[in-house]
Amino acid sequence: MTDIPKIELHLHLEGAAPPAFIRGLAQEKGVNLDGVFNEDGSYRFEGFTQFLRTYEAATAVLTGPEEFRRLTLAVLEQSAYQGVIYTEAFISPNFCGGGDLGAWREYVAAMEEAAAQAEREMGITLRGIVTCIRHEGPDAAKPDAICAAETKGDFVTGFGMGGDESMGVQGDFAYAFDLAREAELRLTTHAGEWGGAASVWQAVRDLKVERIGHGVQSIEDPALVDYLAEHEIALEVCPGSNVALGVAPDWKSHPVEKLRAAGVPVTISTDDPPFFHTTLTREYDMLADTFGWEDEIVRAVNITAAKAAFCDDATRDRLLKKLEPAS
Ligand code: ADE
Ligand code: ZN
Repeated sequence: MTDIPKIELHLHLEGAAPPAFIRGLAQEKGVNLDGVFNEDGSYRFEGFTQFLRTYEAATAVLTGPEEFRRLTLAVLEQSAYQGVIYTEAFISPNFCGGGDLGAWREYVAAMEEAAAQAEREMGITLRGIVTCIRHEGPDAAKPDAICAAETKGDFVTGFGMGGDESMGVQGDFAYAFDLAREAELRLTTHAGEWGGAASVWQAVRDLKVERIGHGVQSIEDPALVDYLAEHEIALEVCPGSNVALGVAPDWKSHPVEKLRAAGVPVTISTDDPPFFHTTLTREYDMLADTFGWEDEIVRAVNITAAKAAFCDDATRDRLLKKLEPAS
């Protein structure tokens, strides 16, 4: 599947860091990352809470804009190699200056510079979705939304929320999402990964998002499935992540095919690929093996992703052209 052009809408920039990249930086900077890696060099964690802890521990080496410039390039290189032509990455002021707007501008400039280089050299386009982190609470989300609004432009196009879905409810973050909406940022939030169908309902009603990160637990509620289909709310589904973290017990029982068959706009992403030993190519290979997804379905899913992308229409048209089968 590497040769089919692919579009990824749900990728955490820090979570996509190759372990060797993080280890290299740790060595350069003399940072101790005990407990972050297994003996074979992969990221070490068991379950979602520990995953978030390892994820955040690994970011200790990402100390400034230059590190994020290098990270962005390393991640895009990895994605371009998998045939990805367009990526939306979650980027967070929490890891980039701690919510300070002046610092954040420097980080954004560094990531944008890397994105421009990757576009020139590898033909991959990157857009940034600024994310607040749910377990940091609603007050911490406000400076994140301000950072997002102040840097909205060609590169920063969206606002979202990741983190521990068991903390509070989506509506607690309405202030930050309202602020981002007023700045004309496009909106998504992690929902229905851990919080059930109720969390997805809250996301659409209380945060008025137009896409849902994961959203796979929507399958519990047929009325919600109908709603998502009818209102064309796209799901950023990451099956490999869901299986690795235990959201779904295995690929066979993952609801992605049921959701797609019900008319929900389903897109496919990797979330935090090295953590889950996956790539976007592997996701599609597994979907082909498990649910018989032929090339035609893969192409259709990527067209859905292009339509749901938080980009301008000229970029969208360019992506849709690239997705046309060669004749
Ligand atoms: N941050 C990185 N990966 C995440 C996930 N799968 N869910 C919530 N927050 C995340
Ligand atoms: Zn995610």
